[in-house]
Amino acid sequence: MKLFVDTGDTEEVRRASDWGVLDGVTTNPSLIAKSGKGFRETVLQICELVPGGDISAEVVATDYDTMLKEAIEIASWHPQIVVKVPLIEPGVQLVRTLSDRGIRTNVTLVFSVSQALLAAKAGATYISNFVGRVDDISDDGMDAVAATVDMVHQYGFDSQVLVASVRHPLHVVQSVACGAHVATMPLKIMEMLFKHPLTDIGLQRFLDDWNKAGLKIFG
Ligand code: E4P
Repeated sequence: MKLFVDTGDTEEVRRASDWGVLDGVTTNPSLIAKSGKGFRETVLQICELVPGGDISAEVVATDYDTMLKEAIEIASWHPQIVVKVPLIEPGVQLVRTLSDRGIRTNVTLVFSVSQALLAAKAGATYISNFVGRVDDISDDGMDAVAATVDMVHQYGFDSQVLVASVRHPLHVVQSVACGAHVATMPLKIMEMLFKHPLTDIGLQRFLDDWNKAGLKIFG
């Protein structure tokens, strides 16, 4: 499963990239606005920080013609860019156009299998299925992810299911369990993936024993 970091903060991207396990970055208009920097400048810096990674950058218009102009502009910035498009009627139409032109897309704000079906049929590269925002309203966001993964396999769609709106490591574990292709998450959640109390206890014991014995690696 690919791991993406969900941020518009280039320092966070740098930190995640340093671990050597990062496959890409997702941004959205809110995250870019929060970064306090320009859209193009931020996305291009992120591309440099994650060589070869897929970097999602979102259109902000909601009518087809303007969305198309924005998508072509954004895609022209860097070959690593994946154009993020909301799951609305002109968005699905746009994904079909971009897919036919060989421009990769990430369909965002997907909450149901019926929406995911439209995205897959339009040729989406990634389908961003949001889970946390569904959990927030007392439903189980992972249900739609599991059903979408099944749908993609059953009908042989090329789209990859990207679990978005990840709120905690259990969402990552559940993403793995249902065979999602990608999970994107804030840096703080990615940091939590490292943690296990037995790792800390075990490491401390190894180091205490080593030091007590006065052992050395060098010299
Ligand atoms: C995904 O690409 C979105 O940017 C993101 O995961 C949304 O997460 P949120 O629901 O925590 O805002």
